Amino acid sequence: MLTGPVWPVAKTAKELPVSDQIAVSFAAKNAPAEGVVLVFAEEGPKLTPSAKDLDKKAKGLLVRAANITAFRGKKDSSVDLLAPQGLKFARLVLVGTGKTSAYSAEDWLNLGGSVRGMLTGREAPAAHIFVESADGKIAPADVARFALGTVLRGYTFQKYKSKKPKKNGAGDTNDRALKRIVIHCADPKAAQRAFAADNAIASGVTLARDLVNEPANVLGPAEFAARARALTKSGVLVEVLSENALKKLGMGALLAVGQGSDRPSHVVVMQWKGAGARGGDPIVIVGKGVTFDTGGISLKPAAGMEDMKGDMAGAACVVGLMQALAQRKAKVNAVGIVGLVENMPSGSAQRPGDVVKAMSGQTIEVLNTDAEGRMVLADCLWYAQQRFKPKALINLATLTGAVMVALGKEHAGLFSNNEQLTDWLIAAGKETGEKLWRLPLGPKYDKMIDSKVADMKNTGGKWGGSISAAQFLQRFIKNGMPWAHLDIAGTAMSSVDSEINRSWGSGFGVRLLDRLIVDHYEKR
Ligand code: BES
Ligand code: MN
Ligand code: ZN
Repeated sequence: MLTGPVWPVAKTAKELPVSDQIAVSFAAKNAPAEGVVLVFAEEGPKLTPSAKDLDKKAKGLLVRAANITAFRGKKDSSVDLLAPQGLKFARLVLVGTGKTSAYSAEDWLNLGGSVRGMLTGREAPAAHIFVESADGKIAPADVARFALGTVLRGYTFQKYKSKKPKKNGAGDTNDRALKRIVIHCADPKAAQRAFAADNAIASGVTLARDLVNEPANVLGPAEFAARARALTKSGVLVEVLSENALKKLGMGALLAVGQGSDRPSHVVVMQWKGAGARGGDPIVIVGKGVTFDTGGISLKPAAGMEDMKGDMAGAACVVGLMQALAQRKAKVNAVGIVGLVENMPSGSAQRPGDVVKAMSGQTIEVLNTDAEGRMVLADCLWYAQQRFKPKALINLATLTGAVMVALGKEHAGLFSNNEQLTDWLIAAGKETGEKLWRLPLGPKYDKMIDSKVADMKNTGGKWGGSISAAQFLQRFIKNGMPWAHLDIAGTAMSSVDSEINRSWGSGFGVRLLDRLIVDHYEKR
């Protein structure tokens, strides 16, 4: 076990603000509504009780409009009525939901996202959504998931737009900007209770997205560390290790990556002890936090290099997850560790051919300075095992471009030495829609990174680049330690649009690992 003093960094960096989330509340079905009002119809169309009720109040307007547009209640279809007669609403929108009897948890989440999307261009200060099925029944947990979908879809990264929406000027557009969402449902109290956890997840995802979207001139290792340190307010124990501390610990691999940058490297350790002493050993999550990856002396080409501001998405996920766990007071002992470095070419940068010594004592021949993530993770993974006795050790990293060649942007790559952890992770992926696909590990792949000069080299050649990267990480995993590596290069940044995400940084992994913890590591 590692003991001894902790070396906090001087509080030089300013904490960055986090994007606002919209206010969501829950109300009874018969509570008053205003602004934009949305009611559902299932395939047929079979109008929900609330839709029927409003149609009656509007003297059949809704059904007539549905007939005129041949609305069938199919998913993603809608009927839009402005200033409906007999009602005091700005708009009434009839939303097709398809067959909700077949909905999964993810379907409810996505419906929340697509309904939130329908509000774009139809703004009013308030949106009232009647979340209902044709037979009137929806579990409160699904209503809460729907609400989470509306929040996640509403995320935008606007802080660098000079033209802010004006505040409350008479007649200006901001009068119409959406300020609150009210969800009408059968049991608002139960939905509100269920949403407390989803709201914590939303703030974790928001934080992760903010960190990934932030440009690297603003967010370097110290600024990232300051943002992580702010989790103290939520009850997380946060330690920031300075570069000096990392030297004393012998983290030669991580430090070699950061040595070309003027900005010092950091490691942040975040502990959430939600299960107390009886909870036993923690689950430990490690994240790659390369705040910018130029490639170093093995410089990347100019085209697309700007994307490398997102090379800290693994670390962002870890911070977002810790935030979510703390905010929802999860009954779990969890530790988050992030390795924060900037990979720059300079007179002090590491060179191809350099040999460095990792904290584990193993030596690494640096063939390509652009294969830096694995070097950062090697020391963080070793530190995690020395200092804690992880129940399970999971790392996330935007580790290889090759994982996108293999899996595209639909699945993150999963590598693991443990069948149970693999099954659990894949299941959590299916439940949340943050999908994983397992790729192989094995001795023949491991041979690819043998070095003539040192214990290993940091690249494994042309083929199977994601696998040899994973093999590299596994050389820093102790025997018997249940471990999984998630390569999120294709899923966490430069993201494809989805029902619940329109942000460049998706926040991938927060919902996935929260779900894993709920399902398997949390005390009930
Ligand atoms: N951060 C990159 C991987 C990456 C690429 C993430 C594109 C997201 C989008 C990583 O550090 C890297 O450069 N990997 C190299 C490894 C190679 C030099 C062995 C790669 O994938 O080309
Ligand atoms: Mn790189
Ligand atoms: Zn990288």
